[in-house]
Amino acid sequence: MKSKFTVSSFLQAKANKEKITMLTAYDYSMAKIVNDAGIDAILVGDSLGMVVQGYESTLEVTMNDMVYHCRAVARGAENALIVGDMPFLSYHVSVEDAVRNAGRLIQEGKSQAVKLEGGVEQVANVTAIVKAQIPVMGHIGLTPQSVNLFGGFKVQGKDTVQAQKVIDDALALEAAGVFAIVLEGIPEKLATLITEKISVPTIGIGAGRYCDGQVLVIHDLLGMYSGQSPKFSKRYAALNETIKDSVMAYVTEVKTAQFPEEKHTFTIDDAVIAALQQ
Ligand code: KIV
Repeated sequence: MKSKFTVSSFLQAKANKEKITMLTAYDYSMAKIVNDAGIDAILVGDSLGMVVQGYESTLEVTMNDMVYHCRAVARGAENALIVGDMPFLSYHVSVEDAVRNAGRLIQEGKSQAVKLEGGVEQVANVTAIVKAQIPVMGHIGLTPQSVNLFGGFKVQGKDTVQAQKVIDDALALEAAGVFAIVLEGIPEKLATLITEKISVPTIGIGAGRYCDGQVLVIHDLLGMYSGQSPKFSKRYAALNETIKDSVMAYVTEVKTAQFPEEKHTFTIDDAVIAALQQ
């Protein structure tokens, strides 16, 4: 059986040049499957706002939503490191807020680490959260909570100024004490440069082949999201179709009295029925 993946395992993996695997999960059943399949880390991402709650962005997700989903995942994931995502506004108002909300994801949500978006501007928050003994994963590049600032979900770091900003963000987070950094939606060569420059592992999503690990949204991997899947994700299954076909078969069988069959039923003594009929 796989042993518990920890924050130290992240650093060990980078030292050993072993790729780190991370996927999102938002509930007990999926967390259990993903955990039992041998994933290193589960991200309870605020992407749940889009793939579970049906919002257009992640901005409407609340702390209570995150605590609820983290708790459910924690019950299913024995070996994977559970990272709880800090939602929009949970760390943007004050450092005190950031520490208290990170603490909620650990204390109430049973996560073992938290993730927040942003680089240089998040140094005070990261420093304070780490000081509270909570491991922090950074997230830079195309950070979805900044969608309004970016004017859409656009690849970041393509020109010199933008690319230098992403590098500065990575270095600032490393100095502030993060144990890993998600690099999202940046050119492969920039992600490679950052991966070589910093001592903590980089986890890529739309950041090319040479990060220390990879993360995907489970709904994209399973083909379970009816919205547009991003170019960088890969579908390993088409569960949308499988689920739809299964539901259609069920509807047909119920309508035509093919389900349930005798084998799906429970029996009772005829004498009991006879007594009830008198
Ligand atoms: O919320 C999320 O799922 C994420 C990943 C896309 C990295 O932040």
